[in-house]
Amino acid sequence: MKRLFIKTYGCQMNVYDSARMAELLAPIGYAPAETADEADMVILNTCHIREKAAEKVYSELGKLKQIKTAKAQEGTRMILAVAGCVAQAEGQEIISRQPAVDIVVGPQSYQRLPEMIAKISRGTGHELETDFPAEDKFDSLPAHKSAEGPTAFLTVQEGCDKFCTFCVVPYTRGAEFSRPVEQILAEAKGLCDSDVRELTLLGQNVNAFNGKGLDGEPWSLAKLLYALADVPGLDRLRYVTSHPRDMGEDLITAHKDLEMLMPYLHLPVQAGSDRILQAMNRGHTAADYLRLIDRIRAARPDMAMSGDFIVGFPGESDKDFEDTLALVKTVGYAQAYSFKYSPRPGTPAAALTTQVPEEVKDERLQRLQALLTAQQTDFNVAMVGRTVKVLFENPGRKEGQAIGRSPYLQPVFAEGAVGHIGKIVEVRIEEAMTNSLRGVLVHQAQSEKALAD
Ligand code: 5AD
Ligand code: SF4
Repeated sequence: MKRLFIKTYGCQMNVYDSARMAELLAPIGYAPAETADEADMVILNTCHIREKAAEKVYSELGKLKQIKTAKAQEGTRMILAVAGCVAQAEGQEIISRQPAVDIVVGPQSYQRLPEMIAKISRGTGHELETDFPAEDKFDSLPAHKSAEGPTAFLTVQEGCDKFCTFCVVPYTRGAEFSRPVEQILAEAKGLCDSDVRELTLLGQNVNAFNGKGLDGEPWSLAKLLYALADVPGLDRLRYVTSHPRDMGEDLITAHKDLEMLMPYLHLPVQAGSDRILQAMNRGHTAADYLRLIDRIRAARPDMAMSGDFIVGFPGESDKDFEDTLALVKTVGYAQAYSFKYSPRPGTPAAALTTQVPEEVKDERLQRLQALLTAQQTDFNVAMVGRTVKVLFENPGRKEGQAIGRSPYLQPVFAEGAVGHIGKIVEVRIEEAMTNSLRGVLVHQAQSEKALAD
């Protein structure tokens, strides 16, 4: 038996890919390892979205090289692989800078890992694969049936054709590609047979989904969601991440029709100034975005909004930044991610001469994050006293405690809930923190009250 250690960086698509790589390598004898020290193979599944990603990978590889050398001295071979978006972006450069690396494999090619491992084991050369055959990948991966716990990710779409001027994704993950509906339904059924209750559909532009439908025609994400809603055993659906331009009328209607489609939407806007939105090539104005949110909230009034923001995009003035703050105030986010702009090599914005000084970015990020944190806290505090349905996923730190998620994706913990892991249970919220809620099981509270009466 050999042991495999995968270290995952970045987004949920990488988390999904890491799980699939582990599944792919299990039949050829790789069981999971807890640490790199005890592994015969280490995969770094990397992310390239923001700064210093590649540098972090090289420094991690330096440490792994030492482990590899120590093992070689004891007569065991360790295979070192770099996967994901840094692999895609850097390619051969990785092997040149760190020759201890055996395999470099891009996010669309990891189905070829078994064959690459076989070649490496036979010889001493390196293996490099960074092509873009997204179709091939899903066709040749084994069925994804295992999941750890009652929630699972399911990648339905990859890649991006939008070319926001700050973003590397169109270069690292390639053009938009959607999986066929039949394949997705089969994967969803397999997961739900193994007790998954909640699925999160993943895609860089998941709402641009247009995979081949059961009738041979391209299906929208909305159509896919209606079909998934009938999968036996499935109780909750989510999808992430979406582009405002692809938020079709049928998808908005699905939020009205499908109770199991959870009222939480990650819809990045990035900035609130039309000038900056245009320079970012987002293809919409701030007013377009706000109108869209009004329509979404008309369909699903309790929709919790989430988003991504970039501060300090080249040329961003104080006034532009104030526009972002104003947009945030208008929307009222339940949760959001915000970043300082970081120039990514090869992207159009990196070449602009109007880069914003680091201290200005720092100051803006602090102000934006203070506002977003306050909104998140307000959103959580408004839950106190309400009863929400929680899907319990994991045991908590304290004995008997369990942690799950509300429909609005808030982590909720409750005492005495450990027996409910894998179930959806009503919880009355007692206390709100910035990042989580504490509640009591409603049936438990009722029986305690009956005893007291
Ligand atoms: N600089 C800062 N943030 C970025 N993002 C993408 N590229 C950059 C960049 N160059 C952010 C965007 C995106 C999220 C995944 O990462 O907000 O939505
Ligand atoms: Fe990047 Fe824009 Fe595509 Fe999102 S939509 S992956 S931010 S290019």
